[in-house]
Amino acid sequence: MKLWEGRFDEPAAKSLEQFNDSLPFDYRLWRADIIGSLAHAEMLGGCGIIAAEEAEKIKDGLESIYADIESGKLKIEGAEDIHSFVENQLVTRIGDVGKKLHTARSRNDQVATDFRIYVSGAHAELQANLKRLISSLLDMAERGLKYIMPGYTHLRKAQPMCAGHFFNAYSEMFLRDLERSAQSAERCAILPLGSGALAGTSYPIDRRVTAERLGFKAPCENSLDGVSDRDFVAEYLFDCSLAMAHLSRLCEDIILYTTEEFGFFEISDRYSTGSSIMPQKKNPDIPELIRGKTGRVYGHLVAILTTIKALPLAYNKDLQEDKEGLFDAQLQVNSCLSIMAEMLPEISFRGAKMKKAAEGEFCCATDVADYLAKKGMPFRDAHSTTGKIVRYCISEGKTLQSMTAEDYKKFSPLFGDDITEAVKGKACADARTSYGGAAASCVKANIRSLKKRLKKY
Ligand code: ARG
Repeated sequence: MKLWEGRFDEPAAKSLEQFNDSLPFDYRLWRADIIGSLAHAEMLGGCGIIAAEEAEKIKDGLESIYADIESGKLKIEGAEDIHSFVENQLVTRIGDVGKKLHTARSRNDQVATDFRIYVSGAHAELQANLKRLISSLLDMAERGLKYIMPGYTHLRKAQPMCAGHFFNAYSEMFLRDLERSAQSAERCAILPLGSGALAGTSYPIDRRVTAERLGFKAPCENSLDGVSDRDFVAEYLFDCSLAMAHLSRLCEDIILYTTEEFGFFEISDRYSTGSSIMPQKKNPDIPELIRGKTGRVYGHLVAILTTIKALPLAYNKDLQEDKEGLFDAQLQVNSCLSIMAEMLPEISFRGAKMKKAAEGEFCCATDVADYLAKKGMPFRDAHSTTGKIVRYCISEGKTLQSMTAEDYKKFSPLFGDDITEAVKGKACADARTSYGGAAASCVKANIRSLKKRLKKY
């Protein structure tokens, strides 16, 4: 039965139904729909809009539908959307009293409510997976404490750093994602129910009761906005998109660092793939696939932004397009976060290669300049002197580490015998003890702080 058939002489065309129906995807809202209806019915009974016994019957009916869907006894099919499905079922089960459930409600405030309930749950799931990933990254940072690796700018070797610093940088990103999702979830928890079709209702409803019953912070203050607002969808998709951006960057680094050319990390066989033709290959399909899925999630964000752009107030059927993208983004981002959390512990460090790379290509040149500057030479001059040393090394086939103290002294009398120790990769990394720096001691402090901040969620 259509919820709106009274007005029509003829039944809807099959093609219209196929095109219009949202049940094939909004069946996912069944829990939210029943939970929302339970709260609505209880409020209707409490406010005397329907009789208390009627509210009780509706409650029993809704609970039996919930149980039967949960157990698989009841298949979700044969209706325009999840709201029609649940209501039809209710009437089949408890008779005409079921028809009172929709008093003081429209599908417009109903679907907005259902989707907010659903997205609140999606935020909780996102946060749980982000937390798992951060824990994994923190373990990697701890394992990385005893290694050094080069840090890069312009993808050119820049300065040596403790390897834990690399993983903590990603923990910082994902912790921001966690915080962002928690903040978005707060804005998502504003209740549209009671907005009616668009203008509220003439029944003496109590929207605070429903809000409280559903765990929402408050009812929305404008019914017109209440039924048409999908900012919470855009926000969730943005949160997913930025988390995917962070994942994609991590993937790119892992892909690079596991190449033969870099060779800093190795992914275990269990989390690597091979080639059908080249027997020697070990491919990083997991990070590549995550990187590849990022565009798809961005696509869903752009789609909802485009859907709500230029949409006149209040509800328009365009808004039915708010769901599929979100469901897909949810699936993608959570599977990416969880496979990444699972794969990270499977990465081993190639300590010798990392150290060699951290000292190679004059990665410690800044430290030579700093050495001179700390002995009184103005930094600009120290920079220029070190530049000359680098040029000399290149022409003589030397490295900053193979130069003797005597070699250094030819460039400045400020050099002492301790310069040869000062240009070792580990010493250079561990000298960067400024707050937030790449020294192992700072990385340890960063790990402690991250763990503390993580506990808030
Ligand atoms: N399936 C619809 C949606 O997802 C439910 C709301 C229908 N409201 C309406 N006025 N036709 O948006």
